[in-house]
Amino acid sequence: MPQKRKLFVKTYGCQMNVYDSERMESALGVSGYEATDTPDDADLILLNTCHIREKAAEKVYSELGRFKPLKADNPDLKIAVAGCVAQAEGEEIIRRQPMVDIVVGPQAYHRLPALEKSARAGEKVIDTDFPEEDKFDHLPRRAARGPRMRRAPTAFLTVQEGCDKFCAFCVVPYTRGMEVSRPPARILAEARDLVERGVVEITLLGQNVNAYHGAGEGGDWSLARLIRELAQVDGLERIRFTTSHPNDMQDDLIAAFGEVDKLMPYLHLPVQSGSDRILKAMNRKHTAESYIRLIERIRAARPDLLLSGDFIVGFPGETEADFQDTMALVETVKYGQAYSFKYSARPGTPAAELDEVSPVDKSDRLARLQALLTAQQRDAQDAMVGRDVSVLFERSGRLEGQLVGKSEYLHAVYANADPSSLGKVVTVRIMESGPNSLAGRVV
Ligand code: SAH
Ligand code: SF4
Ligand code: F3S
Repeated sequence: MPQKRKLFVKTYGCQMNVYDSERMESALGVSGYEATDTPDDADLILLNTCHIREKAAEKVYSELGRFKPLKADNPDLKIAVAGCVAQAEGEEIIRRQPMVDIVVGPQAYHRLPALEKSARAGEKVIDTDFPEEDKFDHLPRRAARGPRMRRAPTAFLTVQEGCDKFCAFCVVPYTRGMEVSRPPARILAEARDLVERGVVEITLLGQNVNAYHGAGEGGDWSLARLIRELAQVDGLERIRFTTSHPNDMQDDLIAAFGEVDKLMPYLHLPVQSGSDRILKAMNRKHTAESYIRLIERIRAARPDLLLSGDFIVGFPGETEADFQDTMALVETVKYGQAYSFKYSARPGTPAAELDEVSPVDKSDRLARLQALLTAQQRDAQDAMVGRDVSVLFERSGRLEGQLVGKSEYLHAVYANADPSSLGKVVTVRIMESGPNSLAGRVV
């Protein structure tokens, strides 16, 4: 047997990149690669990158710099940059880092094996087209298995990609393109494949997942219809989806939270700001009030829902009064989980033309917002003590005899349990709330 070439993959950014990395690994696995956990012995290094904030994008260049000595040691080593930085910066990447061999955008991954061949022949290759064909159809099914045999009981499944919302601060519509939904038949087939491999929890992914409208039997399916259909798959026990936009939260999806047992009571619904003036400038097309009413309706359908959100502080023009509106919204809504960021100007987006808030104000507001959100997260986690939750055990814990998994609310939960419980959903009574996790005992 000829020795297999080694592939090292590093993934940045959102869950969609995690999913894409797996698919690229599968594609390259078919081309004779096996995975390695270190770049040191790799023949191909693949960075799957994120462009969402300046810091995320710059990380790629500093990482690339570290590979320079490896390339000197191994003349066969090829370096590929994939993902949203690849899409946004294209050939500029090779101009800044001439040792990069392949630049491939998120819509061209199915062509990666061919690009790799060209790179082996000594070419520099750049593919950032948005081709007509659907990349998903041309990537090997995951059952074909990539070099890494993952046995996790949870999996991501991309159902929708791209975004037409054009929030004034955001690069996603430019890096991922217009919104496209995959047909339900393909999604159901992929879900059944995953279940056959031992997956019991699937998270449906999309930049705007609740805008899903795949062409299926009897016309376009909504996300709610897709979820109801997935819930019929035997062996699939849990369904989640992310990320949603408030304006696409349709009635049938809200109802599903109350009616579909397999749909977990967790929702990530970013609001970004609590100031109507700023929301308008952000082109969000909803108000603070409409968001609050929406949350009330969702909680009426599913009272125990754990709500998660995203916030941006220091968007151009944000005053202290605007920021106070965000704090007030958080006080009203109460989040069990949240992500908050300082605004970062992204080249090519409308907001990048506007005057920035001072770095000092941004840092100060972020610290105050995070203190509030952290306290709310704590409260939500502490409120679990004494309750019985269902936990999907995913791996062994740090201590002997311990397993760790996620509750329906996505809290990490530790408990002593038999290793045969790995990959199973088990009822656990929560005894303690630690800094980042809960501990309990199997009931
Ligand atoms: N499609 C999702 C997520 C997009 S990116 C949504 O609509 O919510 C994830 C988060 O990154 C966003 O929700 C936003 O809070 C943050 N983000 C996006 N662009 C940003 C920017 N230019 N500066 C700071 N944070 C940003
Ligand atoms: Fe970006 Fe807005 Fe689309 Fe989310 S909805 S991906 S924040 S443009
Ligand atoms: Fe980043 Fe692209 Fe995801 S910019 S957040 S990797 S869609």
